Amino acid sequence: MAKLAGALILEAPKAPQRKRKSVVIGYKTARGTMFQGTIEAFLQSPRSAEYAGKVQLIFTSPPFPLNRKKAYGNKQGEEFSTWLADLAPNLKKLLTPTGSIVMEMGNAWEPGRPVMSVLALESLLQFLKKGELQLAQQFICYNPARLPSPAQWVNVDRIRLKDAYTHVWWMAATDRPYADNRQVLTPYSKSMLHLLKTGKYNSGKRPSEHHIGKTSFLTKNKGAIPANVLTITNTGTGDVYQKYCRENGIKPHPARMPVALPEFFIKLLTKGDDLVMDPFAGSNTTGAVAQQLKRKWISVEAKDEYIESSKSRFVMRKVDTNDKQRTVSNSPQSWNGK
Ligand SMILES: C[S@@+](CC[C@H](N)C(=O)[O-])C[C@H]1O[C@@H](n2cnc3c(N)ncnc32)[C@H](O)[C@@H]1O
Repeated sequence: MAKLAGALILEAPKAPQRKRKSVVIGYKTARGTMFQGTIEAFLQSPRSAEYAGKVQLIFTSPPFPLNRKKAYGNKQGEEFSTWLADLAPNLKKLLTPTGSIVMEMGNAWEPGRPVMSVLALESLLQFLKKGELQLAQQFICYNPARLPSPAQWVNVDRIRLKDAYTHVWWMAATDRPYADNRQVLTPYSKSMLHLLKTGKYNSGKRPSEHHIGKTSFLTKNKGAIPANVLTITNTGTGDVYQKYCRENGIKPHPARMPVALPEFFIKLLTKGDDLVMDPFAGSNTTGAVAQQLKRKWISVEAKDEYIESSKSRFVMRKVDTNDKQRTVSNSPQSWNGK
């Protein structure tokens, strides 16, 4: 049993790089457990019953079907959307009555054609239907630092624009899952600060039919309510996880999400020591952020090597401070992640 700063590692198996049929504990920290195995195996195991009705937020980025296969072997086409949707009913059983599922998914393009795949959208619809879930709200996660792609259509033929966002879908079993937007306020824009200072703006009826009262905009709250377009720059090469991988000769996870993304939704959709789960944990960004925000967490990951390197996130006291400084902003105002 090895003791690490911020983490207590109970088991640290050096297992082969294959998908297991059973689920075992990869490691534990004071607030969370990483399960080693597939989510299918987890959902069929007694562990699943143990957590039924207890998870406040399932936050994840599933292995999306790409034209070129990633290291972790993504499923393709309809096989993918059916596989994902089949998980929905059992994932839903894990939720508390006011719990949420938030899923991030990138865009894909038809192989060899300047045509977008609609698979992400089909996957969402199938997931909602099979899980009998509502779409509480749709978000866009915009990455201004994203390299131009698909390169052939954007850079060479110049017939498409840079593909620079991912979909983030917030789903729930009820119309009113727990949420508190006061936890994710952004700093006021310069123009709003000016308006608050001068007290001057045009009240009355707007062309949009909105009626703006004489004092509607004069109350200074703790910040502005963010829009559902999150601007998160993820250029990261200097975060602690990446550093650890470099120093130890480990190949970093190829599809890590920026820290600011789970941070935003954990703050918005959970409180106190609520339980957060990531069924496709990868480098365990979700678990590490949950731990830092003093939530409880469970994560499931199929590949042993990703589990092994994800431990580094708990060795350091602070999670990805560099990464967090680079991320931050929410259109139109800035989200400072505080
Ligand atoms: C897009 S990555 C998640 C990355 C993660 N959000 C992060 O920040 O590191 C998807 C992960 O799902 C894992 N995976 C694929 N199939 C799985 C399954 N059936 N059960 C559990 N994990 C699986 C892959 O190994 C991969 O690490």
